[in-house]
Amino acid sequence: MFEVISNEVLAENLHKMVLSAPRVARARKPGQFVMVRLDRGEERIPLTISDADPAAGTITLFIQAIGASTRKIVATKAGGSIRDLAGPLGKETRITNWGRVACVGGGVGTAVLFPLVKALAEAGNRITTIIGGRSSSLIILADELTPLSDTLIVTTEDGTLGIKGFVTSPLGDLLADPERVPQAVFAVGPVPMMKAVAEMTRKQRIETIVSLNPIMIDGTGMCGGCRVRIGSETRFACVDGPEFDAHLVDFDLLSDRLSIYRKEETAAHPLAECRIAGGIT
Ligand code: NAD
Ligand code: FES
Repeated sequence: MFEVISNEVLAENLHKMVLSAPRVARARKPGQFVMVRLDRGEERIPLTISDADPAAGTITLFIQAIGASTRKIVATKAGGSIRDLAGPLGKETRITNWGRVACVGGGVGTAVLFPLVKALAEAGNRITTIIGGRSSSLIILADELTPLSDTLIVTTEDGTLGIKGFVTSPLGDLLADPERVPQAVFAVGPVPMMKAVAEMTRKQRIETIVSLNPIMIDGTGMCGGCRVRIGSETRFACVDGPEFDAHLVDFDLLSDRLSIYRKEETAAHPLAECRIAGGIT
């Protein structure tokens, strides 16, 4: 059993949960995730380890409650517990000192981006972080990302905070400025956003890394659920990723596979929004 230390509502359907998991907290590296199962018979949910405190023995997860299982998990209050938690899983992020780096987070993908920004800052990179959401209430982690970034740019689609529009708009400005153009770009968020970022950086051959969120079932490379196409190869995001070279990812296949269980997910929870049935949050 893994005790829930705190469970905070950050935005509509978005929770920040701190769990007691001492061994995971000691072993985890940026980019890795855990598989969480609330109880026997429940669905396994992959969740990125956004932060960890090895001294306190805790890990931090950001959970977007969009399906039946994630809604049950976020309903667990402080003092309650999660039955199973397996990890850390997946490959750690390859961190080096590129010099100038741009980190782009779309919506709840910002929670996945956070440990990468932290590790990139510790490696001495100068970071422009761009985070965006539909509205100001959906912007997360701006305070935590500010001290880690040389520049933090916020975008909202409704213009309630920062620049009005998508995250790709300030990224375009950055790519067009020879004095600010990054040597590497990290992007995490909805598939159309990651695809758009990949297309923008392709022309300039800027190394671009995305964190993919396919449906995962076992998280161990056995079931094939998280199959993705990277260049001419089939890879499994749970063991070969979740981060990949954005210029090689088949985003259209990823989109198609993410929608496979949409009908079942909506049936399992009538309020579930028709977005995805799985993926790493
Ligand atoms: P959202 O749909 O509200 O989008 C967030 C922001 O992403 C937008 O405000 C915009 O700035 C940018 N964006 C979206 N579509 C874009 C496009 N076509 N071109 C350029 N920029 C675009 O996001 P949300 O509801 O917070 O997140 C939900 C999605 O994020 C889900 O699909 C989920 O699977 C995905 N997600 C991915 C990961 C990952 O590891 N890749 C992690 C968490 C969530
Ligand atoms: Fe089963 Fe990756 S989740 S192979």
